[in-house]
Amino acid sequence: AEGYESPPYYPTPPGGWVPDWTEAYSKAHRIVSNMTLAEKVNLTTGTGFFMGPCVGQTGSVSRFGIPNLCLQDGPLGVRSTDHNTAFPPGISVGATFNKDLMYERGVGLGEEARGKGVNVLLGPSVGALGRKPRGGRNWEGFGSDPTLQAIGGAQTIKGIQSTGAMAALKHYIGNEQEQNRMSSIVTKGYSSNIDDRTLHELYLWPFAEGVRAGVGSLMTAYNDVNSSACSQNSKMLNGILKDELGFQGFVMTDWLGHYSGVASALAGLDMSMPGDGAIPLFETSYWGSALSRSVLNGSVPVDRLNDMVTRIVAAWYKLGQDKDYPLPNFSSNTKNEKGLIYPGAVISPIGVVNQFVDVTADHNITARAVAREAITLLKNDMDILPLRRNDSLKVFGTDAGGNPKGLNSCGNAGCNKGVLTMGWGSGTANLPYLVTPQEAIANITDNVEFYIQDKFPKSVTSNADDIALVFINADSGENFITVEGNPGDRTKAGLNAWHNGDDLVKSAAEKFSNVVVIIHTVGPILMEKWIELKSVKAVVVAHLPGQEAGTSLTDVLFGDYSPSGHMPYTIPRSEDDYPESVGLDSQLFGQIQDTFTEGLYIDYRHFLKANITPPLSIRPRSPSLSAEHPLDTAYPRARPTKPPTPTYNTTIPAAEEVAWSSTKLHRIWRYLYPYLLKPQWIKSAKAYPYPDGYSTEPHAVPRAGGGEGGNPALFETVFSVKVQVKNTGKRTGKAVAQLYVELPDSLGLDTPALQLRQFEKTKELAPGQNETLTLEITRKDVSVWDVVVQDWKAPVNGEGIKFWVGNSVADLPVVCVVGGEC
Ligand code: NOJ
Repeated sequence: AEGYESPPYYPTPPGGWVPDWTEAYSKAHRIVSNMTLAEKVNLTTGTGFFMGPCVGQTGSVSRFGIPNLCLQDGPLGVRSTDHNTAFPPGISVGATFNKDLMYERGVGLGEEARGKGVNVLLGPSVGALGRKPRGGRNWEGFGSDPTLQAIGGAQTIKGIQSTGAMAALKHYIGNEQEQNRMSSIVTKGYSSNIDDRTLHELYLWPFAEGVRAGVGSLMTAYNDVNSSACSQNSKMLNGILKDELGFQGFVMTDWLGHYSGVASALAGLDMSMPGDGAIPLFETSYWGSALSRSVLNGSVPVDRLNDMVTRIVAAWYKLGQDKDYPLPNFSSNTKNEKGLIYPGAVISPIGVVNQFVDVTADHNITARAVAREAITLLKNDMDILPLRRNDSLKVFGTDAGGNPKGLNSCGNAGCNKGVLTMGWGSGTANLPYLVTPQEAIANITDNVEFYIQDKFPKSVTSNADDIALVFINADSGENFITVEGNPGDRTKAGLNAWHNGDDLVKSAAEKFSNVVVIIHTVGPILMEKWIELKSVKAVVVAHLPGQEAGTSLTDVLFGDYSPSGHMPYTIPRSEDDYPESVGLDSQLFGQIQDTFTEGLYIDYRHFLKANITPPLSIRPRSPSLSAEHPLDTAYPRARPTKPPTPTYNTTIPAAEEVAWSSTKLHRIWRYLYPYLLKPQWIKSAKAYPYPDGYSTEPHAVPRAGGGEGGNPALFETVFSVKVQVKNTGKRTGKAVAQLYVELPDSLGLDTPALQLRQFEKTKELAPGQNETLTLEITRKDVSVWDVVVQDWKAPVNGEGIKFWVGNSVADLPVVCVVGGEC
C-alpha cells in the first residue's frame, strides 16, 4: 500500500557480537568450521511435515553430537502428548499481573518440554498483540498492551530457558487476524501495513523485550508486513530484528510459511519449518537440497549459510543442550505406544514412539495459582462474594460442566463443549485431567442444584436466598479449524457470549434476585445486555483456566483467596466503540491490505482518546518519585561499537559434500535431505536476479541498536516510583499497582494520553498490613520513536512527564510529576 514500504536491508548482520553469547558462539564456530555442506544444510531445514515425532524437526549432525532438533508447540504446554500439564494460556497469565508467577509457569513449561525431549518449545506468543478484538489467537498472548505483553513474554522466556529448553518467540510480526493469513490459489496472505512509529511503540515492543531476555529462537508470521512476506522481509529480519534489536538466535518460518529459497536466505531467515515448501505433498523444499544447490552455484553466499548454522548451533550451546539433553520420547502423530516413525512417508518403519513419560511433577500447583490469580472481579454488589459454604446455590450453563463426549475428544480443543479452558488450534495441549466448576463446587457443598444446559430451565424454583451462578463463555482459535461457523477469528459470534449466554443470564436475573455471572473468555465479551441488571450482583471473569478450571474458581468464589486479577484488555460497551480499522478484513481474491490507520490507538489508548469509559477497584498511598539516573539528553548516549563476529573460510565447498553417492543412507520418500544427484554438474549462477537493493557491503549500524533488545542505554532505570500499598479491606489479598506514563506535548507528537509501562504485585497482605512496591522506569519507557532520527527520544530532564499509579487505567489515584511531587 502507498506509504507503507519495506525498504531493502542487506546483507544479514551475522550473529555473535553480544558478550552474553560469546562463549556459545565460539563453541559453535569450532564445530561449524568443520562441518560439511550437507551437515550445515541439515540444520537449516526440517525433515518434512509428519516426518518425525515432533511438529517439526531439523536434520542432525551426528558427527558433532547434534541430534535432530525437536520443535514442538506450544505456549501453554507440550502439545499432542500425554502426562503433561495444560497450563492456563497467555491471556490468563497476563491477567495475574504477577511477574513471579509468569516466570514460574515458564519454568514448568520448560521442565515439561525438556522432560519430553523437546529442544525448542514454540512459544511464547506476543503477536497477535490483540489489535483486533475478534482476532482468533489473542488469547495465546498476554493482553492488548505492549508492556504487559512484553513482561509476560520475557518472564516466560526466562522461565522456559532456565531449564535448558529453548523458547521460540512468535509470530513476528503484524499477525493480527486469522482469516487469509496464508495464501490460497486465489488470494495472497494479507499485508499488515504498519508505519514505523506504530511498529516500534506497539507491535515490536514485546519482541524487543523477548530478545533482551535472551530468547534463542523466533518464528516469523505468515502474513506480509508492508507488502513483503515476514519470512523474507529483509527490513524486518536483517534490519530491525538482527541489527537494531541485536537478536543473536535463529529465525524459523511458521509452518509452511516459507515462500522462496534464495530471497529468504538473503533476507535473514535461518531455518525452514517443517522443511517443505508451501505444498507439502511431494519432496519439495525451498531449502534442503535446493539450498545446497544455491550455495554451490553461488546464489546464496557461503557466509550467509555459515551464519544460519552458527546461530542455530550457538543457541543450542547457549541453552546447554549439548549436555545430557533428552531425545524425544513422545510422538505427536499417535497416542499408541507403537507407530510409524515417518508417517508422512506412507511406507515407514514402525517402532516404539510413545514412552508416556510423566513430566507433570507438581506443576498443577503453578497451573492452579495462575488460574486463580487471573480471576478478575468486575462487579460485587452488596459483597455477595465470597459465597458462604452453606449458601443455597443453583448453577446454570454448560460452561460449568465437562465435555459430554469426553476429555480431549475434540482435537486441538476444536469445539466449545463444557467449561472453556483454552481456545483452539496449535496453541493447545491435551488436558491430563480437568476439574470442572461443577465438580469443584460439588466438592465443597451439597446445597446446590446443577442445570448444565444452555437453555434456562423454566421449571426451576427459586427461593429468596438462592444464589444463581450462571456460566457463559466465548471461544476463538486458529484458522485451520472452524468452530460453530467461526474460522479462528470470531467472524460469526462477534464479541457475544456463545450458546445463548446473554439469555441465560437475563432469564436467571428475572427469576433470582442474586445472580453471579462467571465468564470464561478468549477476549473482550459484550455484557451490556445484563451488567446493569439489579439482580446481577457479581461478575467474575475467569479468563481461560486450563486444567484447574474448577479448583481455581472455587478458591476464589468461596473466599479462600481474594480475587487479584486485572483485565488484560478493555471490555467495550458495544463493538461500535472500536475504531473501524480494527474490524476483521475479508476478501475473495487478491490480497487484503490491512492498514493500521488507528496507529497507536488500540484498546484503552483508543477508548481514552474517544472519551469512552469502559464499564468498570486496596489503594496506593505515600507515593514517592526518585530520579535514578539523569535524563539530561533527549536521545540515549551513543551505542557501544559492534565487536567482530566469527569468520569462516568462504570458498564454495566441494560438490561431493552433498552428493547422494557420498552417503550410504537408505533414502526415505518425502524425507528432506541435503543431497543432490549430480552436484558436480552445477554451474555458477552469475545471473541470479538478486532483490532490489541487495548489497554485500555491511550496513551502517543502526544507532538505536547495540545490545540484545536495542541500545543498552535504553534499559537503564531513570526513575523509580515507590508506593505503599495498604490493605484497608476486611480480607487478606494481593493488590496490583499499575504505572501509566503521560508524556508531555513538548515532544511535539500525538501520543496516547496514558500508556502502561510498569506493574508490580504485592504479596498476600492481611487486613491492615502494607507493602511498599517500587516501580522502575527505563529511558525507553518515557521515550517515543523518532522516525526521522531513527532513535528513541525522551523529554529532556524528564520535564513534563507524569506517572499515574493505581489499580487500573480507570482508577489512578496517584500522580507524580517529574521535578514536582506526588
Ligand atoms: C502454525 C501456528 O501459527 C504456529 O503458532 C505453530 O507453532 C505452528 N503452526 C506449528 O504447529
